[in-house]
Amino acid sequence: MAWRREAASATKWSRLNTIISCPTSPNSLPQRGTRTLASLKTLFETKRGTVLPLTPNLARLYGCLRMPRPCARPHVISNFVTTLDGIVSLQAKGHSGGGDISGFNAQDRMVMGLLRAIADVVIVGSGALDADRRHVWTAEMIFPELAAAYRQLSDAMGKRGTPLNVVVSGSGRIDLRLPVFASGTVSALIVTTAPGAKRLRKQSVPDSVEIRAIRGSGGAIPAAAILDAVCRVSAGKLILVEGGPRLLGDFYAQRLIDEQFLTLAPQIAGREVSDVRLSLVMGKTFAPRDARWGTLIDVRRGKSHLFLRYAFP
Ligand SMILES: NC(=O)c1ccc[n+]([C@@H]2O[C@H](COP(=O)([O-])OP(=O)(O)OC[C@H]3O[C@@H](n4cnc5c(N)ncnc54)[C@H](OP(=O)(O)O)[C@@H]3O)[C@@H](O)[C@H]2O)c1
Repeated sequence: MAWRREAASATKWSRLNTIISCPTSPNSLPQRGTRTLASLKTLFETKRGTVLPLTPNLARLYGCLRMPRPCARPHVISNFVTTLDGIVSLQAKGHSGGGDISGFNAQDRMVMGLLRAIADVVIVGSGALDADRRHVWTAEMIFPELAAAYRQLSDAMGKRGTPLNVVVSGSGRIDLRLPVFASGTVSALIVTTAPGAKRLRKQSVPDSVEIRAIRGSGGAIPAAAILDAVCRVSAGKLILVEGGPRLLGDFYAQRLIDEQFLTLAPQIAGREVSDVRLSLVMGKTFAPRDARWGTLIDVRRGKSHLFLRYAFP
């Protein structure tokens, strides 16, 4: 079968022989805690790129996942969940996270975990960190029941452990005692300005944390400079931007997002005329003069949630 040929040619993923990729093996047993989790139904599937060596259980849950072959330039993907009316954060106390947008949807968490498992780097802004201060951006953290499967996938792709967690903050107003920096479960990079670095270094900096100051950037650091700083620290080429919307806006402004994974959650959140609720991109406008048009390349369905994937030129 074509998928087997293509997968077998991907020599980088050396343990492929022991891991069955797509289509799903009928003999695969769901892992404990995921037995009740329904599979996504693939409605339209991209044929671009190489089939990744998903474990049988992940292949049962997601289907076939392809990514472009690694090349010199990093491949930058983003993953968000939005309501039908385009809201990604309610900005209400205790309800500002993605869970309130997806309805704490398990399939959405499963996909988040999957993308983190294959990513070399996860980038977030300080606003996303503020919204979930106890979080660490690993696959295991978002979907612990699939931790072993995610690890097996990362290993099979030759990744070395958890993705580098990158936090972007112009001001440097970040508490280095938070788990993403202090738990030692991930290596962390903070991309900031010179004044931000000065402020951060007044705290005790854990060994697992690196601080990179981008000179002459004022408050806002151009996304290209963020990416450049990341590439100096990590050789990995698959970079996942998990937002929030202001950071994502900076990446779209410089046309640095190659693919947008977007979960469409079946709720209308509504907003007041002068609401603070956030949409996918904040702080930048593109249309009508300089619109960002994507191409729909993959669609999966989980009951009433849609899992969309767009490519951007
Ligand atoms: N639905 C979803 O999928 C999803 C995904 C992610 C986040 N969210 C939600 O979005 C909300 C946060 O939104 P947000 O727009 O505030 O998040 P954000 O982009 O993570 O945070 C904005 C802050 O990050 C720093 N930052 C971002 N880009 C920067 C740049 N280019 N240069 C320098 N600093 C930069 C700045 O921090 P300093 O002020 O420290 O300089 C800025 O104030 C949260 O409620 C979160 O739960 C939702």
